[in-house]
Amino acid sequence: MEISFRLNGEDVTLSDVAPGDTLLDWLRERRGLTGTKEGCNEGDCGACTVLVTDAQGSRPLNACILLLAQLHGKALRTIEGIAGPEGQLHPVQQVMIEHHGSQCGFCTPGFVVAMAAAHMNGATDHATALAGNLCRCTGYAPILRAARAAEAEPAPEWSRDAPPEVAQSDAALPESADALAALLTQAPDTTLVAGATDVGLWVTKALRDIAPAAFLHRCADLRRIEVGADAIRIGAIVTVETMGRAIAQHHPSFAELIRRFGSVQVRSAATIGGNIANGSPIGDAPPALIALGARLHLRQGDARREIALEDFFLEYGRQDLRRGEFVEAVSIPRQPDRLRCYKLSKRLDQDISAVCGCFSITVERGRVASARIAFGGMAGVPKRAAHVETALQGQNWTAETVADARAAFAEDFMPMSDMRASAAYRLEAAQNMLTRYFHEDAGAPASVLEVRP
Ligand SMILES: Cc1cc2nc3c(=O)[nH]c(=O)nc-3n(C[C@H](O)[C@H](O)[C@H](O)COP(=O)(O)OP(=O)(O)OC[C@H]3O[C@@H](n4cnc5c(N)ncnc54)[C@H](O)[C@@H]3O)c2cc1C
Ligand code: FES
Ligand code: FES
Repeated sequence: MEISFRLNGEDVTLSDVAPGDTLLDWLRERRGLTGTKEGCNEGDCGACTVLVTDAQGSRPLNACILLLAQLHGKALRTIEGIAGPEGQLHPVQQVMIEHHGSQCGFCTPGFVVAMAAAHMNGATDHATALAGNLCRCTGYAPILRAARAAEAEPAPEWSRDAPPEVAQSDAALPESADALAALLTQAPDTTLVAGATDVGLWVTKALRDIAPAAFLHRCADLRRIEVGADAIRIGAIVTVETMGRAIAQHHPSFAELIRRFGSVQVRSAATIGGNIANGSPIGDAPPALIALGARLHLRQGDARREIALEDFFLEYGRQDLRRGEFVEAVSIPRQPDRLRCYKLSKRLDQDISAVCGCFSITVERGRVASARIAFGGMAGVPKRAAHVETALQGQNWTAETVADARAAFAEDFMPMSDMRASAAYRLEAAQNMLTRYFHEDAGAPASVLEVRP
């Protein structure tokens, strides 16, 4: 594959890029840019954070699980390109010095790039912006103080990149859903790469050869969000971060769930299509989407079909996806907001759910008119709690009804025990989430983000 991108202000064209080449390896081993560090090599620590700009804006991404081909048509800044051309420090570098934000310094390049991205985007919730960066020795207080201190400074001109104009170079970099459909008709076993937050790990951890692969990031028509009178349609390659921002005004609890999805680096790469298509039983978006009655739009060649999202997940590791078929979009019916999402994980930030429960229960004249409840982490697939829904349907919306409905969870789910939680804990936690929904609906404060004595 031939690709072109802009690196620290300089245009670069590479030929012979293999689908599994990672940006981090190329930077460190082929380009000698060793300021970008390798910590975990799986998207968890942020030591490898780089700043990537395209038509959608600038965002921090983890270079270890960013495949080189994903950079085609984008501008990239590494830590070596954060200071000005005359060596002037970027404001976030200056405040890191002034606030003693670095000790051993291993994490510092990653922090500085993540801070520069947040600074450029005007972010002021620094704990969220830096949740994907791990520091073992300085501690976060000086770093957060430094990030706050830089807020007032404008982003320097030199750090504002424009993405380069590039021609289509290769069929593996399709420019539209039509081109992707045609490619998959000819080569149905092609590995699709959207954000690569899963596929990147197949490369770095499972050492899998992903060739032949197709990279979806240039399919602009798969990146649209359309808010219609009946539904909100979200294209498959909309990032989780962008979707979270778009959904906030319609379903704020979904947006809050998304805030706890990975880190800003992961959310800025991960796509909604990838989160569905991977079929993971612990993906965070599917339970919320199922509770909202979402529909999945699939395409194979010129043939399109639409199914209820819950019907896509057949059993662990098996989805209703035909050979050469791909996810085009997911749509959420417009509805009054009754959604609450509860993600239970060992850490607040950047952690995989042990249980993720999403509830949308409509009450009319004191009775349950409709109930849609879906869980992640409770079965081999994201799954509706059909028996619990039936136990609530038509009943008075009271604490007694909720207490009675708790028994139905055991009919819906036989969760497993693993390092995140035991089966019994998962079942009880799921039951408690329904109780919590009831109390929250009655106006009781139930946010776990509020720590009270
Ligand atoms: C550090 C870290 C933290 C994470 N935290 C979370 C978390 O908190 N919650 C969570 O749910 N997930 C989490 N994930 C998992 C991952 O980020 C998500 O599943 C993500 O949404 C995958 O999207 P992607 O675009 O990166 O998919 P990719 O890795 O590009 O692809 C994933 C799979 O989907 C297929 N695919 C992609 N797009 C399509 C399409 N349009 N049609 C058909 N098939 C397609 C690919 O071929 C592949 O099989 C985390 C991952 C990492 C590395
Ligand atoms: S090396 Fe840890 S996130 Fe990339
Ligand atoms: S300064 Fe040592 S890991 Fe952060």
